[in-house]
Amino acid sequence: MTNSVLPIERVLARRVWDSRGHPTVEAEIQLHGGVLGRAIAPAGASTGSGEAVDLRDGGRRLGGLDVTNAVRNVTDIISPAIRGCDVFDQKGLDQLLVDLDGTDDRHRLGGNALIAVSMAALNAAAAAAGQPLWRYLLGDSQALIPLPEVQIFGGGSHAKKRVDVQDFMVVAPGASSFAEALDWTAEVYLAAGQRMEAAGRLRGVADEGGYWPVFKTNEEALEFLLWSIEDTGHSPGSDLAISLDIAASEFYEAGHYCLGLEGQEIDSDGLVELLVGWVDRFPIVSVEDPLAENDTIGMQRFTAAVGDRVQVVGDDYLVTRTDHVIQAARDGACNALLVKPNQVGTISESHQALEAAREAGFGTIISARSGETEDVTVAHLAVGWRAGQLKVGSFSRSERMAKWNEILRIEECLGDGTRFAGGSVLVAR
Ligand code: PGA
Ligand code: ZN
Repeated sequence: MTNSVLPIERVLARRVWDSRGHPTVEAEIQLHGGVLGRAIAPAGASTGSGEAVDLRDGGRRLGGLDVTNAVRNVTDIISPAIRGCDVFDQKGLDQLLVDLDGTDDRHRLGGNALIAVSMAALNAAAAAAGQPLWRYLLGDSQALIPLPEVQIFGGGSHAKKRVDVQDFMVVAPGASSFAEALDWTAEVYLAAGQRMEAAGRLRGVADEGGYWPVFKTNEEALEFLLWSIEDTGHSPGSDLAISLDIAASEFYEAGHYCLGLEGQEIDSDGLVELLVGWVDRFPIVSVEDPLAENDTIGMQRFTAAVGDRVQVVGDDYLVTRTDHVIQAARDGACNALLVKPNQVGTISESHQALEAAREAGFGTIISARSGETEDVTVAHLAVGWRAGQLKVGSFSRSERMAKWNEILRIEECLGDGTRFAGGSVLVAR
């Protein structure tokens, strides 16, 4: 990184549209000398209650989802406040944004306004340094190409709760490069589509591009996924394995988990038992949010039962917050962190949470949201922060493929001798 000082001239903001056709905030940082950095805020659907708030206009227009107030906050409040700040001082800049907002959940200026500006500043700094963002972030460290975690069936609140479990994904621990991991994943995606079609169940795709989950039970989706892996000829478990995001907060109500598909209501112990049973019978290497965000005892029980052989990921449970990560490490409630920069609001806070997770011996996964755009900043963060894993949705739809394709370019640019994370980053392995 460079040590010189380069002042921000101004910040522009505009309303653009995300992959669900919802309005979102794009920020553009202009530096002295005409250098630009741009970024677009993503948006979640199955959000944790501890997340930074997306500021939406409310009312009837565009379903209340418009972001004119968040856009105005960037141009009228943030832009004059950060004018003259050094673009290379990301921490100082982010602290200023946090102080300017002044609320814990960022509802005054909007988490969407904050993250767009914070990411745009980072992109502007890299552009000013004349480097791709991943290289700018790495400094003198060696690059680590992440293991991709790719959705094959999309469920939960990304598919109108057609199945309860949100993400049925594959990872390729046996692949020797990112390009090979994508090759194998593409074969699984193809095989799964053919299987769904042959079974008369192909109904298009869910929010993140995974197949719409026309299944009779949650477990049937797991069976279809395993068969699709077997169809490719790669070995289940060692070459290609299953990763799940249960997103259990979405079907938790008054102390119970309501599995709509099975018409079953179970308690925390019942869900732990069900999931441990799946881990025993299927080649599952990672489970995200197995229990609800406030069910610490359930998270502890699940982690105690399988944490030595499975990655247990906190998404809604940790909401990219350093204090939550430290507490979870003490509690033994999970062993990996999902990093979603817009969950907390700024790049520096996201990086701090990632460092705290690393310190605790956790695995780290950089993640996109279910509402995405062509913005590929998260792909660069995954390489530049040496996170080891990247989760951006399925293997279709350009807002997803843009991120996978960006890593292919980075891997090619690094050439021979590039370190691909592979299965070694799944902490439990
Ligand atoms: P979201 O879901 O972006 O809709 O919150 C993604 C996830 O739960 O990982
Ligand atoms: Zn999740």
